[in-house]
Amino acid sequence: METDTIKNITETELPQDANLVSMSRLVSQHARFTRQWAMPNKHTFLIEPIRDLIHRYVGNGLGWIDAFAGENSPAETTNDLNPNKPTHYHLDALEFLRSLPDESANGVIYDPPYSMTQAKECYDKYGSDKFEPTSMRYWGDCKNEIRRILRLHGKVICCGWNSNGVGKGRMFRLDELLIVPHGGSKNDTMVTVETKIAHQQTLFSGVTG
Ligand SMILES: C[S@@+](CC[C@H](N)C(=O)[O-])C[C@H]1O[C@@H](n2cnc3c(N)ncnc32)[C@H](O)[C@@H]1O
Repeated sequence: METDTIKNITETELPQDANLVSMSRLVSQHARFTRQWAMPNKHTFLIEPIRDLIHRYVGNGLGWIDAFAGENSPAETTNDLNPNKPTHYHLDALEFLRSLPDESANGVIYDPPYSMTQAKECYDKYGSDKFEPTSMRYWGDCKNEIRRILRLHGKVICCGWNSNGVGKGRMFRLDELLIVPHGGSKNDTMVTVETKIAHQQTLFSGVTG
């Protein structure tokens, strides 16, 4: 296992009147990077190093939201479009996130399907339509809602085949990146942990991606 940990710049070190462009440069400093091999699993949180990371940040799940919860979420409030999943709600994730109040969540878990093929093969087709060219805004819209519902200094944990997370363009600071290679020709699973470092009203409008 390779680990590299370097101190982050915290939001308190940022100049009060810094404009957002230079702020976003400052916040893209260093985070903790870890790479650890594990077997793949369509239930992401059963993958050992990911399960451990989730446990470390989410604990008992109080105040945490999971909009694509599947079967193993420790979040207090869970949602999955598939009615056969053991979650509190069965709404489309974007509709679910839009129903939650501003800055009300301590943390958000974001583990959607990673591709159209994966959605079809692993999740009974749920989410596959969101990879049609006409629906690609959907993922950015979900991230904008996550930004809106998270309290200041709240955390978001994103899983996927890239390390984009919610992103510094939405004023999130990367704290940790876990890379889980699965060997062969399989994609790595990547997990980012980010902190919201500015209030909703401080942000530029119209952030996409
Ligand atoms: C990667 S899996 C989550 C796995 C979960 N973290 C676990 O460890 O069991 C993605 C989940 O998103 C659900 N899903 C797909 N499209 C959705 C949508 N539009 N809204 C809500 N849930 C959706 C699928 O049913 C699937 O359970």
